[in-house]
This record gives sequence, structure tokens and C-alpha cells, in this order.
Amino acid sequence: MKTQNKNLEIKTFDEITEGKGYSEATEENYRDLLQHLLSDIKNKPKMRVLDVGCGTGGNSIRLAKLSYSITGIDISSKAIVQAKAKVKQLGLKDIDFCVGDIENLCYNDNTFDICFCGGVLHHFPDLKRVAEELYRVTKKNGKVLAYDPNALHLYVFVVHNIINRAINLQGFSPNERALKPKELMTVFKTAGFMNFNFDSYVLSTKKTEWKLIRNLSYTALDKTFSGLRKGNILTMICEKT
Ligand SMILES: C[S@@+](CC[C@H](N)C(=O)[O-])C[C@H]1O[C@@H](n2cnc3c(N)ncnc32)[C@H](O)[C@@H]1O
Repeated sequence: MKTQNKNLEIKTFDEITEGKGYSEATEENYRDLLQHLLSDIKNKPKMRVLDVGCGTGGNSIRLAKLSYSITGIDISSKAIVQAKAKVKQLGLKDIDFCVGDIENLCYNDNTFDICFCGGVLHHFPDLKRVAEELYRVTKKNGKVLAYDPNALHLYVFVVHNIINRAINLQGFSPNERALKPKELMTVFKTAGFMNFNFDSYVLSTKKTEWKLIRNLSYTALDKTFSGLRKGNILTMICEKT
């Protein structure tokens, strides 16, 4: 497995930020995915959410619009500059961004009601440190909500775990790989989390490259398989009890 080379990763993330960005699906599709993850959460106003690996702030902004109080962190300073600019333009309150590393979070223990990881966990060859840090900063009864490429989905598995490993694809970071529920459960359980809930979700692509092939394969696999093999996205919810 490839080692975690942070400088190389930061360079890749800065380049993606300055290139086509992370907006893979339509705004409506993202909002629906968020609702899917938040469906069991009682939305008490001003719940504190840490948007971990927030990128240019897409999910942070969606969550702020749902009245959550947001802190977004990302290792790419270029992404944080863009996130701050978007929020300023929209005039949103209760949303704050800073450059930071998920593996060394600069927050006190038990700070956040929700740690939100949107397309982030799959960038780490070893998730142990990430899971431990998320456990530390999550409040008791707080939750981690995450979504990532689903290794149980045939198309996603081939692209991420075979092709991208052999030849680093454009727009992909060298370390990224699709994830299996079992791997996530093992590492997050060891960190202390409980009450796991995994699901799969179809997030269509609006990007032009391979758009037709990707969306056709997503639809075909969605109709062919059931349960966790259906959707290209794997979602995870777990709790600090
Ligand atoms: C696929 S992007 C997702 C961005 C955003 N969550 C979204 O959905 O638009 C992954 C993000 O994780 C960030 N990231 C990767 N490693 C990180 C680390 N160690 N600490 C903080 N952020 C990290 C990258 O800079 C990038 O912005």
C-alpha cells in the first residue's frame, strides 16, 4: 500500500481545487445525500458540526443553511481561501474555516455534536489516526457521518482500486481508494465508536469526462444489485456512546 506522503497529497488537493474542483454531482443530488445522512439527527439549532476535509466548502454551506454551526477544516490552504470567499459572498453566519490536518486536530476533546466527512476518509491509506482524532473531538452521543467511494460497487472498485493504483488518474489523488464497510467498521470500532449504520447511495456525475458511461453503469448496477452493492457511494453513521 502507498505511504501517506502529505506534501504530495497537499499538492494534488491544491491542484484539484484550482482545476475542476470537487463538485461531482448536482446541488440537488448533494442536498439529498446530506438528508440521507442527517435523517436520524434531531436538528437542534446551533449543533456544532466539524466539516472535516471541507474542500471549498460545499457541504459546510449546505449544512449552515440547515442551521448547523459549522467549522470547516482542510489541509489545502487554496481550498480554504475559496471556501471563505464563497461564504463572504453568500453572507452566511455561523460558519468558520481554517487550514488544518485531520490527523492532528487543533480542537479540545468533546467539542462537536457531528463530525462530517464528505469524501475524505478514502484519501487515507491508514485510517487509525483519523478515527482516533474524530473520536476525541466528538461529544458523547455525538456522531460521525461519512460518505466515500464504495468498494462494493463494481465500477467504483475497478476505477479506484485497480486503475488508479496502476496509473494515477487525472483528478484522483495517488492515495485514494474505494472503501469497504468492514474496514471502516474495524478501525472506527477500535477507536471507540459504536452503533454503526452503513448504506449505499447513487450519486450521479455531472462531470463531462466519462459522464455517459459512468451514469449508465451507476443506473445499471443500481437496478441489478441490492443493499450495499447498489450505490457508488458508501455512507457510514456511527456514534460516540
Ligand atoms: C474529495 S475532497 C472533498 C472535499 C469536500 N468535503 C467536498 O465534498 O466537496 C477531499 C478533501 O480532503 C482534504 N484532505 C485530505 N487530507 C486531509 C488532511 N489530512 N487533513 C485535512 N483535509 C484533508 C483535501 O484537501 C480535499 O479538500
